Amino acid sequence: MSVLLPGGAGFIGSHTAVELLNAGKEVIIVDNFSNSKPEVLEAIKKITGKEFKFYNIDYIDREKLEEVFEENEIEAVLNFAGYKAVGESVKEPIKYYTNNISGALVLLDTMKKYNVKKFIFSSSATVYGEPEKMPITEECKTGGTTNPYGTTKLFIEQILKDIYASDNTWDICILRYFNPIGAHESGLLGEDPQGIPNNLMPYIVRVAAGKLKELSVFGNDYKTHDGTGVRDYIHVVDLAKGHVLALNKLEKEGQGLYIYNLGTGTGYSVLDIVKAFEKATGVKVPYKIAPRRPGDIAMCYADPTKAYKELGWKATKTLEDMCRDSWNAR
Ligand code: UFG
Repeated sequence: MSVLLPGGAGFIGSHTAVELLNAGKEVIIVDNFSNSKPEVLEAIKKITGKEFKFYNIDYIDREKLEEVFEENEIEAVLNFAGYKAVGESVKEPIKYYTNNISGALVLLDTMKKYNVKKFIFSSSATVYGEPEKMPITEECKTGGTTNPYGTTKLFIEQILKDIYASDNTWDICILRYFNPIGAHESGLLGEDPQGIPNNLMPYIVRVAAGKLKELSVFGNDYKTHDGTGVRDYIHVVDLAKGHVLALNKLEKEGQGLYIYNLGTGTGYSVLDIVKAFEKATGVKVPYKIAPRRPGDIAMCYADPTKAYKELGWKATKTLEDMCRDSWNAR
């Protein structure tokens, strides 16, 4: 039996593939390299010393996807095949709704046809919109997303709840990621966004490497300890391990719809990250204070207690690990 990873060559998918292979799972990756590179596959093999199957297809292509289900005995699917650039989603909503939602529907319908009913979904803290309290628990209300990317996550969560309500033999786990950064400690895998990065850590890495002039800190007048935005940064390897534990739960207990926050529970500001990065790497990060970025909230950090109680999962890596590994994987 194998686990299928659409989008398994991407940032979070590739790190999860490593942890699944290390845990002895048989892995099949489906990816069309729309935001990743073939070298990632070699890196996964090098790190794990293990082989896996790979299909270069677009997961929205039903015929090709069905061939994958025909040729393999698939036990569970972990879906990483989503576009994720917030700004681009505002400019190209149809592209985002098509890839993320239609793609997920094709995948889920194909799963149904082949009677594969274990599904792990990459959701995001973005579904909480303007959070009603801090730290955020899974019970906090969702909605009020501020961009099409976030809305795709919210809609797919609803689709999954409706699927489970219609047929409770599905085993579904929704993982709400906070801010994944860092990279595999080997330096062989990492985050490699195309063009100018939108997210903080990839931007800092480019500035530190001299490829971009300076970081713009978006706002220093938020109600936070130093005025800059606070987020819950989580090491991508910790996040990847959360998927292995979620899969174990679905394999052992099954039959349920579970939702977990995957965050550390600690919030750091933009300036905290700049300082931690400089300390961990010894490299200066020039920055300037810029206006707030539209759509940003002041604070967002998780209460990760539920994932600890029910999955036995806890983030173990430090902010220093995150900064050092992000830098080493550049
Ligand atoms: N920031 C800067 N300068 C930059 C980039 C970011 O100051 O050049 C600040 C932002 O204003 C924010 C913090 O750094 O305060 C983090 O910003 P990111 O863009 O790295 O991350 P976001 O919190 O905006 O968004 C991330 C993911 C989304 C996800 C969301 C959930 O990118 O996919 O977390 O909260 F939906």
